Amino acid sequence: MMIRLVCSIVLVLSILDQCVHAQKVKIKKGVENDSQKDQKTALKRGDDNSCNCAGVRCGISNREGRVVGGKPTGQTEYPWAAALSYRGKLYCGATLVTNEHLVTAAHCISGITKSRVEIVMGSYNKSDTSEPSRREHKVKEWWAHPDFNRRTFNNDIGIIRLDKKVDFDHFVRPVCISEANPRSTFIGEKGIVIGWGRQDENGVPSDVLREVRVPIMSNDECKTKNYKPKEITDNMMCAGFDAGKIDACQGDSGGPLLLEKQTSGGTPQIDLIGVVSWGQGCARARYPGVYTRISRYTEFINSKLSNGCKCPRS
Ligand SMILES: *[C@@H]1O[C@H](CO)[C@@H](O)[C@H](O)[C@H]1NC(C)=O
Ligand SMILES: *[C@@H]1O[C@H](CO)[C@@H](O)[C@H](O)[C@H]1NC(C)=O
Repeated sequence: MMIRLVCSIVLVLSILDQCVHAQKVKIKKGVENDSQKDQKTALKRGDDNSCNCAGVRCGISNREGRVVGGKPTGQTEYPWAAALSYRGKLYCGATLVTNEHLVTAAHCISGITKSRVEIVMGSYNKSDTSEPSRREHKVKEWWAHPDFNRRTFNNDIGIIRLDKKVDFDHFVRPVCISEANPRSTFIGEKGIVIGWGRQDENGVPSDVLREVRVPIMSNDECKTKNYKPKEITDNMMCAGFDAGKIDACQGDSGGPLLLEKQTSGGTPQIDLIGVVSWGQGCARARYPGVYTRISRYTEFINSKLSNGCKCPRS
């Protein structure tokens, strides 16, 4: 199994094993008056005023004409894309879902010293530190899924809380979290994967954000490919072409598998449906990319977003 971290730092990371402690649940004391209750309801609903969404809707890309698989994205096309670096080197991706939380893969955070991790958002060319839209953050806290299995990569999902809240603007905005039920298959749909990862198995990470479009297959079909059937659990989903060639690769781990939908208003709206998790090599024939299936983790995700502000859908 090849995980989609940039390999050169995997060795460094694996010796820094540390537990991710379960968060203590804070029990709120005292009685709330009506205005406090209203404010809390507003936060849950993602209302503009209390959330500082300022009219921002989730999942709206800044698309400048259509792009095809394997091409650089438009400059700020996916304003929820985040790059995780460890001591200055990109190693994973993540996706902004509220004004202070990102979804990533458990293997991007489990056993890693969070004080050494830096998060870059609002960036297109991650090597260009002079980009005016670029924002750097540190990690306040993070949670790998408690049932993440390092050997099988089952439950490969985690949540990062940023050191400070993000002000949404044209360059930094959240994606929508899929509301699909846990049984949704997405079979035959084309997913969009974005990342600054390697462009091939032996390449170097990309300076600029790139995207590929990959067809999603059923888990039954995935089990007929070159993986062992038991490697593909119900918490995973597979996407890719039989001939390979287009896939996520190292450095893309933790980044999103996105699904674009037309809204009734005609604006495309983008949902997070998967997290880049693992694959055998990159873009090898009959080894599709394997993604964590977001719809299985609604409860886990919501339990960690606490007061984070999700912006409403269009
Ligand atoms: C409710 O509580 C808040 C914070 O304690 C306070 O500022 C506000 O005036 C209270 N509102 C009412 C209607 O009592
Ligand atoms: C990204 O930025 C770096 C540093 O400014 C520059 O050297 C590099 O050429 C840029 N890459 C692209 C593809 O624009």
